[in-house]
Amino acid sequence: GRKVQQAIYLEGLLGRRPKVPVYPEALERAARRRASPEAWAYIAGGAGLERTVAANLEAFRRYAFRPRMLRGAPPPSLEVELFGRRWAAPLFLAPIGVLELAHRKGDLAAARAAAQKGVPFMVSNQSSYPLEAIAEAMEGVRPGAIRFFQLYHSTDFRVVRSFLRRAEAAGYMGVVLTVDTVQLGWRPRDLDLGHLPFLKGQGLAQYLTDPAFLAALEEPLEGPAPKVRLSPALLRALPTLWRAGKGNLARALKAVRRFVATYSFPELSWEEVRRVREETPLPLILKGLLHPGDAERAVELGVDAVYVSNHGGRQVDGAVAALDALPGVVRAVGGRVPVFMDSGVRTGADVAKALALGAKAVGLGRPYVYGLLWGEEGVGAVLDYVLAELELTLALVGVGRLEELGPHLLGLD
Ligand code: FNR
Repeated sequence: GRKVQQAIYLEGLLGRRPKVPVYPEALERAARRRASPEAWAYIAGGAGLERTVAANLEAFRRYAFRPRMLRGAPPPSLEVELFGRRWAAPLFLAPIGVLELAHRKGDLAAARAAAQKGVPFMVSNQSSYPLEAIAEAMEGVRPGAIRFFQLYHSTDFRVVRSFLRRAEAAGYMGVVLTVDTVQLGWRPRDLDLGHLPFLKGQGLAQYLTDPAFLAALEEPLEGPAPKVRLSPALLRALPTLWRAGKGNLARALKAVRRFVATYSFPELSWEEVRRVREETPLPLILKGLLHPGDAERAVELGVDAVYVSNHGGRQVDGAVAALDALPGVVRAVGGRVPVFMDSGVRTGADVAKALALGAKAVGLGRPYVYGLLWGEEGVGAVLDYVLAELELTLALVGVGRLEELGPHLLGLD
């Protein structure tokens, strides 16, 4: 914490410019220049007019600190204990799919950077590397590095069960079940570029290495098989598909079709949550809740944490900003389980605001993907910036211990 902060300041004072921009908007601009138009559309884009993407950021602007002075306390420790493990900070990397769009090493690079900083990493169901390889990469940096597996509940429970067994075997300490993406949102930027990574075989590593999914490839698909038409976009994707199918293009196309046919699950209900709860002994975190009623139900059902998120504004355009939904959920949960949040977090000060409103841990999303355009080093730099600013902010608003953060520091209650 403090050492990193001092190092960053010292570099600045010596007139050295950082390779990865510190100012969040400069980071975003520089990342955009390094990304392909397709990658940028997918990473930065959101649903519809992207009003919720904007609302997420705007909400952070609306809350303002009332710092306390003269507390006579040393800077606080950022360490927290959650699920019986020590986290370097109440911060984690949110699950993000298709990281290969940002860097060839994708999840491996991001996970290594997280492990190095002691920050938990959530592996996406749509990752670019198998969860076992990501676990190994993290172990190489820090044995026992904290990792979660994010699950999309497809219509094939055999695959769901297989994913859970694999996560348990590879030392994942929890399952994050994302329930706001039973279908992909309406994403105009991707539509205008005729680009959806999954249809090119990207972000399918978890499936292409899964015994249950591969076995099911031999079964005929129920219902009409989604057509994969030969388009310019698909032709460009042929090398990816070839790799995805390990040199067998027909098999790769079959896998993509099966993925498309089983991924969407509009009928997903509390019944499946209960089933996942019963299927795995790992802590279960329900991601994508915004309504206090859903949070109440989740706690009653026995989840281990509630995760407030609107998926970075990528699903429902016009959904409430996650930060604005947080207090209602925190009230409904009433301290029975920890509440996590993401969507719109850009800085360490943002993290402090979410904590003040009752989050126990906060997820960093797009900013770390922007860092990933510089590889592992870039993710590490972004984490340093956020952690350093978080520590400084806590010290400057007069918080000696994380537990002292509360709505009163934002002028509320
Ligand atoms: C996501 N998110 C996401 N969530 C999830 O549960 N599984 C996933 O595979 C993905 N994939 C994904 C890809 C990209 C490119 C983005 C930007 C986001 C949502 C993610 O976990 C988180 O909720 C948001 O990123 C938070 O919003 P901000 O802070 O990034 O704007």
